[in-house]
Amino acid sequence: MPGQIKDGELVHLIDRKDRSYRILLKAASSFTSRHGTIPHDAIIGSEEGSIVKSCYNEKFLVYRPTLAEYIAKMRKGSQIIYPKDIAAILLLGDIFPAATVLEAGIGSGALTIALLRAVGATGRVISYERRKEFLKIARSNIDEFFETVESAGREGAGELIVKEMDVYEGIEEKELDRVILDLQEPWRALKHVEKSLRNGGILVCYIPTVMQIFKLSKQIESKYADSFRLIGIYEVGMRGWEVKARSIRPEHRMIAHTGFIFVARKSSAVG
Ligand SMILES: C[S@@+](CC[C@H](N)C(=O)[O-])C[C@H]1O[C@@H](n2cnc3c(N)ncnc32)[C@H](O)[C@@H]1O
Repeated sequence: MPGQIKDGELVHLIDRKDRSYRILLKAASSFTSRHGTIPHDAIIGSEEGSIVKSCYNEKFLVYRPTLAEYIAKMRKGSQIIYPKDIAAILLLGDIFPAATVLEAGIGSGALTIALLRAVGATGRVISYERRKEFLKIARSNIDEFFETVESAGREGAGELIVKEMDVYEGIEEKELDRVILDLQEPWRALKHVEKSLRNGGILVCYIPTVMQIFKLSKQIESKYADSFRLIGIYEVGMRGWEVKARSIRPEHRMIAHTGFIFVARKSSAVG
């Protein structure tokens, strides 16, 4: 359980206008904004949710970032899966503790972090990625999260196996519990997923356009009807609301369409 905030942790300071500042704590260092300076030593040892004051007497709340907040501010190489969709993928894909999950590609590692948490200490996440530069970015984001965010639950996270491989060329593993494809042409990996996913296992594909969903569904229908049972195709809408004095209304801006979540279940081809 996270206790007092420690040296080396990543924290967010929230000012009175709700702006958030991301700080990696280091003893004897300081954080300076136009609201003045705060020594890191004033934050180290404090309780999460407490208030620290700058030299100008400005108040800041101290919090550890949540996973969604971490993802929003981490370094991005590729387009990431938004937290609203990650949440849905974890449930629709039924990612369970001790599961062996294969994902392709790793991109910036946003989904990977959530998968590692969900499979827990006895689970495994195998990530295929064909671009070296993304492997590097993803690795650094994943390591940073588990090394600097105390509530990451580093002891409870699964084992990560990263492979610089093209999933369209093949999948080495067998008897996988779950496969998640976040790439442009998931239908090109279906013949490999068919062999590597165990019966009853779940395939989730995350794709942004209607044409991709159409092509994927058609391929499943025409070539893999005996091996995959379509569970559903979903889109997640999430609209924030604001409460200001006597006005309660939806926020002006929202992240509208991001991607479709396609879910299918592997069945035994022999009937
Ligand atoms: C949209 S990004 C994935 C984002 C990631 N899910 C995240 O949340 O950060 C797609 C990734 O798939 C990789 N990719 C595309 N085709 C691939 C293939 N055939 N095999 C392995 N990786 C592939 C790309 O290089 C890219 O890094």
